[in-house]
Amino acid sequence: MGMKIRVIHGPNLNMLGRREPETYGTLTLDDINRMLVSAASEKGLEIETFQSNTEGEIVDYIQNSFIDGTDGMIINPAAYTHTSIAIRDALILLDCPVIEVHISNIDKREDFRSRSMIADVVTGRITGLGADGYLLALDAIVRILGSGR
Ligand code: DQA
Repeated sequence: MGMKIRVIHGPNLNMLGRREPETYGTLTLDDINRMLVSAASEKGLEIETFQSNTEGEIVDYIQNSFIDGTDGMIINPAAYTHTSIAIRDALILLDCPVIEVHISNIDKREDFRSRSMIADVVTGRITGLGADGYLLALDAIVRILGSGR
Protein backbone atom coordinates (compact mmCIF):
# COMPACT_ATOMS: atom_id res chain seq x y z
CA MET A 1 0.00 0.00 0.00
CA GLY A 2 1.12 3.56 -0.73
CA MET A 3 2.13 6.07 1.86
CA LYS A 4 -0.37 8.27 3.62
CA ILE A 5 0.24 11.90 4.59
CA ARG A 6 -2.13 13.82 6.84
CA VAL A 7 -2.63 17.58 6.85
CA ILE A 8 -4.09 19.57 9.77
CA HIS A 9 -5.43 23.09 9.36
CA GLY A 10 -6.15 24.95 12.59
CA PRO A 11 -8.69 27.63 13.54
CA ASN A 12 -9.88 30.26 11.07
CA LEU A 13 -8.09 28.63 8.16
CA ASN A 14 -11.54 27.58 6.90
CA MET A 15 -11.98 31.30 6.13
CA LEU A 16 -8.95 31.49 3.82
CA GLY A 17 -9.67 33.54 0.71
CA ARG A 18 -11.97 35.84 2.66
CA ARG A 19 -9.76 36.31 5.71
CA GLU A 20 -7.12 39.10 5.56
CA PRO A 21 -6.18 38.32 1.93
CA GLU A 22 -3.27 40.78 2.10
CA THR A 23 -1.71 38.49 4.73
CA TYR A 24 -3.00 35.04 3.78
CA GLY A 25 -3.65 35.35 0.02
CA THR A 26 -6.76 34.69 -2.00
CA LEU A 27 -6.76 30.89 -2.28
CA THR A 28 -9.46 29.14 -0.29
CA LEU A 29 -8.80 26.13 1.93
CA ASP A 30 -10.49 23.95 -0.71
CA ASP A 31 -8.06 25.34 -3.33
CA ILE A 32 -5.10 24.45 -1.10
CA ASN A 33 -6.46 20.99 -0.33
CA ARG A 34 -7.03 20.34 -4.03
CA MET A 35 -3.45 21.40 -4.80
CA LEU A 36 -2.19 19.03 -2.12
CA VAL A 37 -4.30 16.11 -3.33
CA SER A 38 -3.13 16.52 -6.93
CA ALA A 39 0.55 16.94 -5.94
CA ALA A 40 0.26 13.88 -3.71
CA SER A 41 -1.39 11.73 -6.35
CA GLU A 42 1.42 12.60 -8.81
CA LYS A 43 3.81 11.20 -6.22
CA GLY A 44 1.62 8.16 -5.63
CA LEU A 45 0.72 9.25 -2.11
CA GLU A 46 -2.58 9.30 -0.32
CA ILE A 47 -3.47 12.52 1.45
CA GLU A 48 -6.07 13.23 4.12
CA THR A 49 -6.87 16.81 5.12
CA PHE A 50 -8.54 17.94 8.33
CA GLN A 51 -9.61 21.37 9.60
CA SER A 52 -10.93 22.30 13.00
CA ASN A 53 -11.52 25.45 14.98
CA THR A 54 -11.33 23.47 18.22
CA GLU A 55 -8.13 22.58 20.08
CA GLY A 56 -9.43 19.27 21.49
CA GLU A 57 -10.54 18.06 18.06
CA ILE A 58 -7.04 18.70 16.75
CA VAL A 59 -5.57 16.74 19.68
CA ASP A 60 -8.04 13.89 18.95
CA TYR A 61 -7.05 13.90 15.27
CA ILE A 62 -3.34 13.69 16.13
CA GLN A 63 -4.00 10.84 18.59
CA ASN A 64 -6.06 8.99 15.97
CA SER A 65 -3.28 9.52 13.42
CA PHE A 66 -0.91 7.84 15.85
CA ILE A 67 -3.31 4.95 16.42
CA ASP A 68 -4.28 4.46 12.75
CA GLY A 69 -0.79 5.27 11.45
CA THR A 70 0.53 8.01 9.23
CA ASP A 71 3.74 8.34 7.21
CA GLY A 72 3.96 12.10 7.54
CA MET A 73 2.12 15.07 9.00
CA ILE A 74 1.80 18.66 7.82
CA ILE A 75 0.33 20.98 10.44
CA ASN A 76 -0.60 24.64 10.48
CA PRO A 77 -1.99 25.03 14.01
CA ALA A 78 -2.82 28.69 13.22
CA ALA A 79 -3.36 30.66 16.46
CA TYR A 80 -2.89 27.49 18.55
CA THR A 81 0.74 27.54 17.40
CA HIS A 82 1.35 30.24 19.95
CA THR A 83 -0.62 28.79 22.87
CA SER A 84 -1.22 25.06 22.72
CA ILE A 85 0.77 22.78 24.99
CA ALA A 86 -1.93 20.14 24.33
CA ILE A 87 -1.20 20.08 20.58
CA ARG A 88 2.54 20.05 21.33
CA ASP A 89 2.15 17.09 23.69
CA ALA A 90 0.06 15.19 21.14
CA LEU A 91 2.59 15.77 18.33
CA ILE A 92 5.31 14.21 20.47
CA LEU A 93 3.41 10.89 20.06
CA LEU A 94 4.18 10.78 16.35
CA ASP A 95 7.33 9.14 15.08
CA CYS A 96 6.95 10.24 11.44
CA PRO A 97 8.22 13.49 9.84
CA VAL A 98 6.11 16.46 11.01
CA ILE A 99 6.35 19.77 9.16
CA GLU A 100 4.99 23.01 10.69
CA VAL A 101 3.62 25.38 8.03
CA HIS A 102 2.60 29.02 8.26
CA ILE A 103 1.27 30.94 5.28
CA SER A 104 2.53 34.27 6.63
CA ASN A 105 6.01 34.88 8.02
CA ILE A 106 5.22 34.63 11.73
CA ASP A 107 8.59 36.16 12.65
CA LYS A 108 7.78 39.34 10.74
CA ARG A 109 4.53 40.12 12.56
CA GLU A 110 3.42 40.80 16.16
CA ASP A 111 5.88 39.56 18.79
CA PHE A 112 3.42 36.98 20.14
CA ARG A 113 3.38 35.20 16.77
CA SER A 114 7.11 34.49 16.79
CA ARG A 115 6.70 32.09 19.69
CA SER A 116 5.72 28.61 18.52
CA MET A 117 4.90 26.00 21.14
CA ILE A 118 5.67 23.24 18.63
CA ALA A 119 8.84 24.53 16.93
CA ASP A 120 11.18 22.30 18.92
CA VAL A 121 9.14 19.10 18.53
CA VAL A 122 8.62 19.18 14.74
CA THR A 123 11.00 17.94 12.06
CA GLY A 124 11.11 21.29 10.28
CA ARG A 125 9.24 24.51 9.64
CA ILE A 126 8.14 26.53 6.60
CA THR A 127 6.90 30.05 7.27
CA GLY A 128 6.12 33.02 5.03
CA LEU A 129 5.97 31.28 1.64
CA GLY A 130 2.20 31.48 1.24
CA ALA A 131 0.12 28.48 0.22
CA ASP A 132 3.20 27.08 -1.58
CA GLY A 133 4.49 26.24 1.88
CA TYR A 134 2.12 23.26 2.02
CA LEU A 135 3.46 21.87 -1.26
CA LEU A 136 7.04 22.44 -0.13
CA ALA A 137 6.22 20.60 3.09
CA LEU A 138 4.88 17.67 1.07
CA ASP A 139 8.10 17.62 -1.00
CA ALA A 140 10.15 17.76 2.20
CA ILE A 141 8.32 14.75 3.65
CA VAL A 142 8.84 12.75 0.45
CA ARG A 143 12.56 13.60 0.46
CA ILE A 144 12.93 12.72 4.15
CA LEU A 145 11.10 9.39 3.72
CA GLY A 146 13.03 8.62 0.53
CA SER A 147 16.36 9.25 2.18
CA GLY A 148 15.45 7.04 5.13
CA ARG A 149 16.32 9.86 7.57
C1 DQA B 1 -0.80 31.38 10.67
C2 DQA B 1 -0.14 32.43 11.56
C3 DQA B 1 -0.81 32.49 12.93
O1 DQA B 1 -0.16 33.47 13.75
C4 DQA B 1 -2.26 32.90 12.78
O2 DQA B 1 -2.91 32.88 14.04
C5 DQA B 1 -2.99 32.07 11.78
C6 DQA B 1 -2.31 31.60 10.58
C7 DQA B 1 -0.25 31.37 9.24
O3 DQA B 1 -0.50 30.40 8.53
O4 DQA B 1 0.41 32.33 8.82
O5 DQA B 1 -4.19 31.84 11.92
O6 DQA B 1 -0.56 30.10 11.24
